[in-house]
Amino acid sequence: MLSDLHCHMLPGIDDGSKDMEQSLAMARIAVADGISTTVVTPHHLNGVYSNPARQIRAGIEALNEALERAGIGLNILPGSELHLTPELPAELDQGTALTIANQGKAALVELPVHTVPMGAEHLLEQIIAMGLTPLIAHPERNSELRRSPERLGEWVEMGCLGQVTVQSCTGRFGEAVQRAARTMVQRGCIHVAASDAHRDRRRVPQLTPAREPLAQWAGEEVAQLLIEVYPTDLAAGRRPDPALLREALPPPPAEPWWRRMFGR
Ligand SMILES: [Fe+2]
Repeated sequence: MLSDLHCHMLPGIDDGSKDMEQSLAMARIAVADGISTTVVTPHHLNGVYSNPARQIRAGIEALNEALERAGIGLNILPGSELHLTPELPAELDQGTALTIANQGKAALVELPVHTVPMGAEHLLEQIIAMGLTPLIAHPERNSELRRSPERLGEWVEMGCLGQVTVQSCTGRFGEAVQRAARTMVQRGCIHVAASDAHRDRRRVPQLTPAREPLAQWAGEEVAQLLIEVYPTDLAAGRRPDPALLREALPPPPAEPWWRRMFGR
């Protein structure tokens, strides 16, 4: 049974599901893909949407009732996609910003599409010092991290985890994003595959389509860690064991001779 840690299934609260009917259609797709737990992650603090914890909890109550009426067995847990802003550490501290599955262990942190904000490292350090593990949402979709994946590597060294989006692996967001996803996975910077679903069509809540590309890039064992083991751990409030990934990762592909010689 799979856990999806990044999904915009709550209706009418952000740019995800537009109404309850669509949320139910998304839930059916998730269940058919083998997902038993979905952490709903409405945007918060991104300058467009503000969804404090109490609003998300009220939304979950309504979604759970509708799921029950429709006979869909999907476990919904609270969460949020939190924009990395200077207010975030205080919001996490006060509980207005939700951690993953409200377990108080890890937080799904989002960056802008093109840039890494000034002081990002400082904010991440603050979050880590609070005893929370930042899970960086889809770093492969951030232009700056695509250019400098080693920066993500430094964040992982600091104690962050990385979340790749399933459809980045399958190529839906283009070749550059898919290539970055592969590099980040192969360098051990990615720990979780999640759907980041917004709809019941195109951006859908499925995890299994990532299995084939992940296995091809880094082997079956890594694919299983990213799709099954680590997401299940985080949903249950357990800290993922990074040694499992280190041991499962094949040695990095040899650099071509011209890159070793000329450094590019
Ligand atoms: Fe998202």
